[in-house]
Amino acid sequence: MRSSSLFALAGTLAAAAAQNMSLCDKYTTALLKDNNATNQYTLLTLLVNTVVIGNYTQPNKNRVPGILAPGEYMGEQVNLLPYFNGELKSSNRGGSSGVSINFLDDGGAAPLMMNMPANSTDSNQYFLLTHLYQFFGKLLDCSGYSTMNFPKYSGVDMASAHAFMALSPSEFGYFVTQVGLAATSFGVSSSDVSAVADVLNTLFGYRCSPKTTVIPEMGETLNSICQNEKCPLDPNATCDAYPNKGIVMEPELAMANATNGTGPSSTGMVPSGITTGESEFSGAATVERAAVGVVVGLLAFAVTF
Ligand code: HEM
Repeated sequence: MRSSSLFALAGTLAAAAAQNMSLCDKYTTALLKDNNATNQYTLLTLLVNTVVIGNYTQPNKNRVPGILAPGEYMGEQVNLLPYFNGELKSSNRGGSSGVSINFLDDGGAAPLMMNMPANSTDSNQYFLLTHLYQFFGKLLDCSGYSTMNFPKYSGVDMASAHAFMALSPSEFGYFVTQVGLAATSFGVSSSDVSAVADVLNTLFGYRCSPKTTVIPEMGETLNSICQNEKCPLDPNATCDAYPNKGIVMEPELAMANATNGTGPSSTGMVPSGITTGESEFSGAATVERAAVGVVVGLLAFAVTF
C-alpha cells in the first residue's frame, strides 16, 4: 500500500463509492443534484471552507470546530492558527528557511461563510483556498476536474508546501479529523470518510515517503506532510530525497511588529467564532446568511442519508 500509485489509491476510493461513481461525483449528486463541474466545485468549496472555519451551513449532522480552532488530538493540545496567520515563519517561498505569510489576508472567515475563497482573486487567502479546492477535487476524483468550471491544481507538491512547518502527528491527525468531521457533517458515510482518511494518512502522514504520483499532471512528487521526528517513518523511506535528509527544524516566531502586510494578522482577520466554535457563527450578518441560502436550501432538500 505504501508504494502504491495514485491509481491503486484512487481505486480504494472508487471502491468505496457506489455505482462506480467517484466520491466527488457521488456526493455532488446526493447533495446538489446535477453532477456537473460547477456543482462539484461548489461541493469542494463547501467541504474545504467547513474544514477551515468550522460549520457555517444548515442543516448539518455534527459540529465541526475547523482547523483554525484550537483543539486536542489523542490527548495533545493542537493549535494550527499560527501557521495560517503569519505568527510563524513556516511558509516556503523558495529560500532555505521559512517565512511568515498571513493566509487570512482577504476577509478571513467572512467570504468563506459566503461560499467564496476570499474577497478578491489576488491574495494569499485566495490562492491557498482555491488550491485546496483543486487538490482535494483531484483526490476525490471529480469527473469535472481540469475543465473550465473546475480548474486543475496549480500549487506546489505537498512536501515543499509544508517543508518548514515541522508538522507533528497530532497536528496532522487534527487536520485529517477536521476533514472527516466536515464530510460527515454533510452526510458522507463513515465508510467513505474512513477510505478518504486512509488515503490521506498513507500519502501524507509518514515522514520521508518516496516519490508518488498524486496529481497526475505533476508526475511523481515528494508528498510527506507529517515531517517532524515524531511522525512514523515510511516503510520505504527515502530521506535523502528530502532537503536536509528529511530533518526539519521547528519554525521560529515571526517578529511581533511586522508591518509589511505578510506578518501576523490582526485579531480582526479572524472572527472570534473561529476559536470558540459553532455557536459564534449564528451571529453572522444576515446578508451572509442570505448568500449561502441557495446552497443551504439545496442541501436541506437533497440530503437523504
Ligand atoms: C492531509 C493533510 C493535508 C493536505 C492534503 C494539505 C494540502 C495542502 C495544499 C493542497 C496546499 C496548497 C499548496 C500550494 O498552494 O502550493 C496546502 C498549503 C498549506 N497547508 Fe496543508 N495540507 C494538509 C495538512 C496541513 C496541516 C496539518 C497544516 C498545519 C498547519 C497545513 C498547513 C498549510 C499551510 C499553512 C499552507 C500554505 C502553504 C504556503 O502557501 O506556503 N496543512 N496544504
